[in-house]
Amino acid sequence: MQLIDGKSLASKVQSSVSAEVEQLKQEKNIVPGLAVILIGDDPASHAYVKMKAKACEKVGFYSITHHMPDTISQDEIIATIEMMNANPRIDGILVQLPLPKHVDTDKILEVIDPNKDVDGFHAYNVGRLVTKLDAFVACTPLGVMRMFEEYKIELKGQNVCVVGASNIVGKPMAALLLNADATVTVTHIHTKDLKSHTLRADIIVVGVGVPGLIKEDMVKEDAIVIDIGINRLEDGSLVGDVDFAKVSPKCSYITPVPGGVGPMTIAMLLSNTVKAAKGRV
Ligand code: GUN
Repeated sequence: MQLIDGKSLASKVQSSVSAEVEQLKQEKNIVPGLAVILIGDDPASHAYVKMKAKACEKVGFYSITHHMPDTISQDEIIATIEMMNANPRIDGILVQLPLPKHVDTDKILEVIDPNKDVDGFHAYNVGRLVTKLDAFVACTPLGVMRMFEEYKIELKGQNVCVVGASNIVGKPMAALLLNADATVTVTHIHTKDLKSHTLRADIIVVGVGVPGLIKEDMVKEDAIVIDIGINRLEDGSLVGDVDFAKVSPKCSYITPVPGGVGPMTIAMLLSNTVKAAKGRV
């Protein structure tokens, strides 16, 4: 069994982004800029945004965080996004999800300029991803693809089971894998007999937020298991969606939690933002 080390790969990606930032500064006098919009007081969202801001600072980006109370109106959020769309120093706009219940998330995401959509959530970019055109792609699935590349994991013709069908993770993950010629099965909360699907998979990618969902008897020998779940248990510890202790001995490769996919999400956000800055017109 080999661990896929997301932490060290993320720092490798971060270093190459830093070098690209330096080059953009010297050759074009461009400093990549990221605007993060954070609404409300969800502790997990605050923690993620703090990590994103810190990473931006580390690679030399200009970054601003708009923190708004959860009583803010949808129109005020839209006005802030439109301001960022028009701001020439901002290359990327990220609205941290989830949003408060009174806000229509789909509507908000559609307001972001697709050329500044570094989260890859806008329908324009999702459509381009599905048709295999150049697009901004959601950071977490993009980070998983970067892991496959780094560890030279072949995808063509492989049976991949994606567990979870969210817009943020499962659907873009499935599209990327299909684009890479894998045979993709997408399972979700209404799937009957999840085990029958995971057992056939050469590669399992799971991101649903259920600790211990993937058990030893659901994974075939020598499978590759990518765990996107990040769950905080009552004792404060972080675990994924896979019963790591029991499943890992059966795997050829597996990602740990923490230190697996998590750090890659932020690394790919940096990479998407530098891509946006390079595309400045
Ligand atoms: N909430 C959970 N994951 C993400 C993400 O990748 N991007 C944003 N904007 N919000 C999230």
